Amino acid sequence: MDAPDSDKRRGASTRRRFLLGGAVAGVGAAAAIGLDYGINRAAESTPSAAPPRNGDEVVPFHGTHQAGIDTDAQAHATFVGLDLNADTDADALRRLMRILTDDAARLTQGEQALADSEPELAMAPARLTVTFGFGPGLVALAGGDRPTWLASLPAFETDRLQPEFSDGDLLIQIAADDPITVAHATRMLLKDSRSFAKVRWTQHGFRRAHGTVAPGTTMRNLFGQVDGTTNLAPGTEDFDRLVWSASGWLAGGTGAVIRRIHMDLDKWDRLDRGGREQSVGRFLHNGAPLTGENEHDEADFTATTAIGFPVIPEFSHMRRARSDNPDERFFRRGYNYDQPPTGEQVSDSGLIFVSFQADVDRQFVPIQRRLDELDLLNEWIAPIGSAVFAIPPGCERNGYIGETLLG
Ligand code: HEM
Repeated sequence: MDAPDSDKRRGASTRRRFLLGGAVAGVGAAAAIGLDYGINRAAESTPSAAPPRNGDEVVPFHGTHQAGIDTDAQAHATFVGLDLNADTDADALRRLMRILTDDAARLTQGEQALADSEPELAMAPARLTVTFGFGPGLVALAGGDRPTWLASLPAFETDRLQPEFSDGDLLIQIAADDPITVAHATRMLLKDSRSFAKVRWTQHGFRRAHGTVAPGTTMRNLFGQVDGTTNLAPGTEDFDRLVWSASGWLAGGTGAVIRRIHMDLDKWDRLDRGGREQSVGRFLHNGAPLTGENEHDEADFTATTAIGFPVIPEFSHMRRARSDNPDERFFRRGYNYDQPPTGEQVSDSGLIFVSFQADVDRQFVPIQRRLDELDLLNEWIAPIGSAVFAIPPGCERNGYIGETLLG
């Protein structure tokens, strides 16, 4: 089935201009769109018009898939894991998802949520997306079929998991190019959740600020590495096949793995540049494989040095993370984190590793297992949080997220 236009536009996001202030507050989305096109046309024909602001950019909320997965990653993201209250039953869950869907549909389009206590903060959506995910407990409560992979991941040797960053019944991923927008949307959604669920964990992540690097530039993590080069590309056949679920209530949805991975920057400081590049198998300056020149050059794992060693070490992260089985792939959409340090450490930083895949057991777990067994990077990283969620499909205007499970 062809994706609706809203889906096709989602990756690029649309630019709509909103009048700030009272005139537009409370005006429906349709009216706002009409207004928008009028203003854009006027702007195009006036050479001196101010350039459109990033704050006005809107990502469509409704569609076959939820936004925030194939959307170009925004600069800021907050991930919240919630636990349902003991008295939240399936009916209450339905009410909760209707309310949260309504909030998300409004806020992402630059409209205030119902009973928004700071409506001015809703006026700059800055490509805001809100993405909901369901943990195993929620699916069981709803009485739905639980995908076999929807469970805590198997334990891995390198895990140092902390319960305060793991598991949960409901995931809300809130992402935008503006941190105030993210904070406001998060607060509105949590205010409306509080009679139904309690926050279990919150993780704040960031990439480069909007406008700092050219659009399409692969992100850098806090080790300074180009991170995200070999990845599924939204809009391709591989992405559609490997990311979107095809059957049952999850059709059009996907599976999310969120791993909080501590990166020991203080220890990394003691490694020289050559060692850093060997640990991943790529150059630091542009992310090219050690056998190539440009970031997207194909890696040659058979190339050897003059004395016969592989140029890209066999135990490098890149070599270990690449499977011979083309189905063992997923879409990575991670964020950096940086917390105030404690004790002697200079930094407490890492990666909020986020991957989307239709089947966590078949696509993610085999790769995680390989990395757990052997990966040079393990010397400097440690998973400290882990959660798996089913991301339900998107919904149309009169629907709500989760209706295929709860309806
Ligand atoms: C803090 C932890 C991690 C860091 C710093 C890190 C860093 C990197 C870097 C720099 C690359 C090379 C550039 C690229 O292709 O993106 C890479 C590739 C990759 N990473 Fe990670 N990574 C981490 C954790 C993980 C985890 C937990 C997984 C999955 C279990 C994973 C899976 C992959 C895959 C599949 C690739 C592409 C391999 C290929 O070339 O085919 N990474 N990672």
